[in-house]
Amino acid sequence: MIREFAGWTPYPRGTVAKRSTSFICQACGAVYQRWQGRCEACGEWNSIAEEATGEANAAPVAGGARLKKGRVIQLEGLAGTPMDAPRQPSGIAELDRVTGGGFVKGSVILLGGEPGIGKSTLLIQAAAAIARAGSRCVYISGEESAGQVRLRAQRLGLGDAPVELAAETHVEDILATLATGSPPRLVIIDSIQTMWTDAVEAAPGTVTQVRASAQGLIRFAKASGAAIILVGHVTKDGQIAGPRVVEHMVDAVMSFEGDAAHHFRILRAVKNRFGATDEIGVFEMGGAGLVEVPNPSALFLGARDASVSGTAVFAGMEGTRPLLVEIQALVTPTALGTPRRAVVGWDQSRLAMVLAVLEARGGVRLGQHDVYMNVAGGFRILEPAADLAVAAALVSSLADIPISPHAVVFGEISLSGLIRPVPQAAPRLKEAAKLGFSEALLPDGSAEAARQAGLKTRPALRIADLVAEIAGGPPRKPSSARVSHERE
Ligand code: TYD
Ligand code: MG
Repeated sequence: MIREFAGWTPYPRGTVAKRSTSFICQACGAVYQRWQGRCEACGEWNSIAEEATGEANAAPVAGGARLKKGRVIQLEGLAGTPMDAPRQPSGIAELDRVTGGGFVKGSVILLGGEPGIGKSTLLIQAAAAIARAGSRCVYISGEESAGQVRLRAQRLGLGDAPVELAAETHVEDILATLATGSPPRLVIIDSIQTMWTDAVEAAPGTVTQVRASAQGLIRFAKASGAAIILVGHVTKDGQIAGPRVVEHMVDAVMSFEGDAAHHFRILRAVKNRFGATDEIGVFEMGGAGLVEVPNPSALFLGARDASVSGTAVFAGMEGTRPLLVEIQALVTPTALGTPRRAVVGWDQSRLAMVLAVLEARGGVRLGQHDVYMNVAGGFRILEPAADLAVAAALVSSLADIPISPHAVVFGEISLSGLIRPVPQAAPRLKEAAKLGFSEALLPDGSAEAARQAGLKTRPALRIADLVAEIAGGPPRKPSSARVSHERE
């Protein structure tokens, strides 16, 4: 990356500040001196655009610039009184869980998500809840007209909530408006990509504008104590384009995810200066907007056909909350020279690793088979604890022997073929027992936790034990079972 250096003073001695342009990657904000096809910093193609980077209001500096004498700032100790009532809960439990108990005074949150996923819907619901609780709440829409926002709010039954609404994109006007009257508790800026400020010359929507607009809004949040939520649209590969450059400036980054084909939506904290980052909130998009899902396991296991081979129920953890999801695998003889490996909802390279360990340490021959893997309901699993459930589903599909419908599976697989214990076994097993599961396929080290939760344990020490456990069951179609019981 080429950085701009002009000595240690802002401008070289004796020159006049001239209007300058730079070439800036619109995805990550890297600065270049000339155009190039690919950003070396983030690898994005065709993302570099020329932007005016001079400050419109900066006075020309002539005769050499020195650092101006600064004003003495007041230094404070750590012991003083913290902010009063630092958090404003929204009353939407799934949202408050992800923020860490409510919006912190003076904090700025970036909410990213694909267009149409439901960001505006979630935020108008949160704004209405906070306004109804008696706090001043302002919703600034840069994308929809005030009429459109009002129409949606009324359809959601929120027409009576005293939310202050405006359709505006000019940051200076927005800040002047927010500064009148009592300081708002919550301000929603939908979206940061539409905002522009006079402070910089670049065109609206460019990285320079997004960054400068965010800076202005963040300064207001810190000075006034208002919590601000900035909406940012993400590109299809999951990167918050443009707004990614403000990620480090904000206090929290949340992403709103989901699958167009499914109704549920997941709110994840990616960064949170005031709370945990592994919490998720689960919502269901319905005719009346987003509805909280307090028991997501029941939702993800809803339409499950436990009698078919190739499915395993993974007892996962999302932050402090256990979450049971079904993992589906389909293993079929390949018709092509190179077998296909397709995975939805899990890491492709993690699947390759599990396949390799199954082959090398479990004696399962998969080289001539296509492998398809899917996490039911469009959910995305990030934990390595899912290894064992994936392996179980694969073996079950290959052998065409269903796994017991009453069993949950979890455990991490090491390259040596050992099955390693995973953190938080107890809450995983407790959730499984609550949902009526009575058996657990798990690492040897977690057997005691399973007994305590009242589940019958089938601990496995090595991957070969798992293969024997599943493929050793009563086969439905013995002719199609291709699992050999090799042991090291
Ligand atoms: P929206 O909040 O506008 O998405 P974003 O702000 O992230 O771009 O959500 C729009 C989608 O949500 C749209 O496809 C319709 C759907 N939707 C419902 O299914 N039910 C509802 O009650 C609402 C308001 C939206
Ligand atoms: Mg929107």
